[in-house]
Amino acid sequence: MNSKISELRTKALSVIEQAADLAAIEKARVDLLGKKGELSAIMKMMGELSPDERKELGALANQLRSDMEQALEQKKSVLAAAALEQQLKAEQLDVTVPGNPLLTGAQHPLHKVLDEIKEIFIGMGYEIVDGPEVEYDKYNFEMLNIPRDHPARDTQDTFYVTENVLLRTQTSPMQVRTMLKGKLPIRIIAPGRVYRADEVDATHSPVFHQVEGMVIDKGVTMGDLKATLEVFAKRLYGENTVARFRPSHFPFTEPSAEMDVTCFRCGGKGCSLCKGEGWIELLGCGMIHPKVLRDCGIDPEVYSGWALGMGLERVVMNKYQIDDLRLFYENDLRFLTQFN
Ligand code: DAH
Repeated sequence: MNSKISELRTKALSVIEQAADLAAIEKARVDLLGKKGELSAIMKMMGELSPDERKELGALANQLRSDMEQALEQKKSVLAAAALEQQLKAEQLDVTVPGNPLLTGAQHPLHKVLDEIKEIFIGMGYEIVDGPEVEYDKYNFEMLNIPRDHPARDTQDTFYVTENVLLRTQTSPMQVRTMLKGKLPIRIIAPGRVYRADEVDATHSPVFHQVEGMVIDKGVTMGDLKATLEVFAKRLYGENTVARFRPSHFPFTEPSAEMDVTCFRCGGKGCSLCKGEGWIELLGCGMIHPKVLRDCGIDPEVYSGWALGMGLERVVMNKYQIDDLRLFYENDLRFLTQFN
């Protein structure tokens, strides 16, 4: 028995000493001190001994238990410290290494300027309205005073879906749709995509964007049109911007005008942007034709109104001095990220 105890001591101390990690030390603890362990086996044999032997050997066995416990505990704390150190080493990070830049999205320049335009009109009490891109011929042309044989149709090469349905060539059908709702007064802008069968080049695209505007109320005059659009031009291009109106012609307005603004690069002196003119064409506008009002159920003797239409791409190209329309649709990040 005595020799069994000392054998176990030798073995135990060597097993503990050689334990390589925390799992090994736990296994050693179970093997040595557990219920089915080697010390328990020795303790069970104590019953067969005489009281004197049991006293002596029991003391030895107890001493062995506490020595093993202590050795296990010591080894365990050494291994735990080593494990922690290894973990810290593995997780070490150099806080001076530059981070990976996060790519954030940017607003598309068309959207950015459209938002500015919307803000300006919302600030003047206008409502934003939206309508279909697949439109009736009747709304896109007929009710805007452009009958089948009207020459104005030639300038708007139209994608027809059926004889009476087309891809809208302008946002002006939103005037008709809004009037037909029958609620007065009206103060709206209607931005959206329009389509024309044009070849793609630096200034043409079969898909582009317009912003339509319309005001109808009692006693609305050309003076209101001019005042509103001058405020709009100054808000969009800066307080020093001056607007001028030139007579023009649209079938659905009478009188009609085109509005130019002083070039925001040279301030009107003449430069390469405005081709020496000092002026940049911004939009078409006019007093809504009485026939259009009447066809949409509004009495032109009681109500009057004005309308505007502008090409969004052109506004943005002027504002940012972009010389090729195709850049808007190619989604090249080198272009798109310049407008943050
Ligand atoms: N729809 C016209 C076009 O595409 C632009 C336009 C001009 C709209 C005058 C208007 C307006 O509302 O009053 O050429």
